[in-house]
Amino acid sequence: MTTVPTEDLQTVTLTVNGSERTVAVPPHRTLLDGLRDEVGLPGTKSCCAEGECGACTVLLDGKAVNSCLVLCVEAEGHEVTTVEGLSDGGLTDLQEEFLNAGAVQCGFCIPGQVVSAEYLLRTNPSPSEPEIREALSGNLCRCAGYQRIVRAVQATAARRNGQ
Ligand code: FES
Ligand code: FES
Repeated sequence: MTTVPTEDLQTVTLTVNGSERTVAVPPHRTLLDGLRDEVGLPGTKSCCAEGECGACTVLLDGKAVNSCLVLCVEAEGHEVTTVEGLSDGGLTDLQEEFLNAGAVQCGFCIPGQVVSAEYLLRTNPSPSEPEIREALSGNLCRCAGYQRIVRAVQATAARRNGQ
């Protein structure tokens, strides 16, 4: 890794999973790399780094974004929630339903899928199947577990709606 002179680092303060964090990063450091390397949260996955796969999805001020397309400096003063921040330590109901549906194969895409699905369910508690597929269309799964992922989201919606 190239060493960046200290004078070229920028101090960024942001809230990550409810805690204020301050990091010193080069201006070009992505939020994805900042979360993984500076904040020490490896749950957000790094893959294409081009906004194509969704593995790096986090919530930025409550909205799902590809963290590889956001710079750390752009997150200054904002609130970030990673997959680690969706629960207090255990599995969320959504993560349980991913397991129940057998949707977790290699698992690499799952953190991004879970964050995108959580965003969908917070903004649309009773999504139709097309709406689920549309909401997750930016999250690629190389294991092609799409049908099971959809079932997991449907089961979580039913659970949250008391059905
Ligand atoms: S790593 Fe960000 S979209 Fe693929
Ligand atoms: S479970 Fe393997 S890439 Fe999705």
